[in-house]
Amino acid sequence: MNSIIAEIERAVAAAKAALDRAASPAEAEAVRIEYLSRNGLFPALSRRMGEVPPEERRATGTAFNTGRTEIEAALEAAKTRLTAATAAEEALDVTLSGRRGRIGHKHPISQMADECVRIFRRMGFTPMEGPEIEDVYHNFDALNTPADHPSRDPQDTFYFPDGRILRSQTSPVQIRVMETHQPPIRIVAPGRVFRRDTPDATHGMNFHQIEGLSIDKNVSMADLKSVLQNFAWEMFGEKVNIRLRPHFFPFTEPSVEYDFSCVVCGGKGCSVCKNSGYIEIAGAGMVDPAVLKNVGYDPEVWSGYAFGMGIERLAMLRYRIPDLRLLYENDLRFLEQF
Ligand code: DAH
Repeated sequence: MNSIIAEIERAVAAAKAALDRAASPAEAEAVRIEYLSRNGLFPALSRRMGEVPPEERRATGTAFNTGRTEIEAALEAAKTRLTAATAAEEALDVTLSGRRGRIGHKHPISQMADECVRIFRRMGFTPMEGPEIEDVYHNFDALNTPADHPSRDPQDTFYFPDGRILRSQTSPVQIRVMETHQPPIRIVAPGRVFRRDTPDATHGMNFHQIEGLSIDKNVSMADLKSVLQNFAWEMFGEKVNIRLRPHFFPFTEPSVEYDFSCVVCGGKGCSVCKNSGYIEIAGAGMVDPAVLKNVGYDPEVWSGYAFGMGIERLAMLRYRIPDLRLLYENDLRFLEQF
């Protein structure tokens, strides 16, 4: 074995060791430059072939080619290993700022219900809830609704085969609260109600109401009006006026419907209020003595008022939503605006 073959073997061992130690593609490249580039060790060795005696040339050439191929293979392996490692490191770049998780938020109807409750809470009302599956007694009978009242019709109210119903209003919560509590009472009850309406821009088969009930001694219509006026101011600002119109509900006497002056045009008349300057919000009245008797209260001692309003209606006004159905399509492009 001549000295060139020995040098080739040492160079191959050294290059492989250097490639094993290499910690980056740049370090592997430095090894290539040292051994294989034009000014590297292998071309220098090949230039010394002339020193080799003719009978050893063949073996030296073979050693030279094998050595170079081995280094090239080791280089290839090192580069593959190192670029994979770098890619993994880059994928885990700890200096990148974090990605925020997508957090949802409350549905506009829930937001509006919460806001109603907040406003009434400040006026001393306690939130309560009642069942969505009701019985006819609480939804109609106890509320003084005559047996032939149209709202009882299966065309309007959803009946279960066992005779129970999906409540058509939040008013039955009044009865449930009075059955289980002694006056004075001051509650609000937000919740879902169900009616067999054909859905359109302003009607759905289920929607939300918030019910209010106050029972005490010497409660008057003036108390009711001040609570409703305050609610309107809190919800829509100081410019809003309310208007009470005589109406009829079985469970209140006298009964009113109440309107807010149009929050869009300020009462001048526009398409939202259909040029009337007012927007119908809900019903209210003084609790009928017959209802008080149904829950065992003495109407000579106790009196009170009740009101109920549609939460969708408030949300449409507050958020300027033209069509109620938008609230139930669960389209994120719509919901994310609130
Ligand atoms: N429950 C009535 C409805 O759904 C609204 C209502 C009217 C509630 C008068 C009341 C009230 O508490 O006193 O149309």
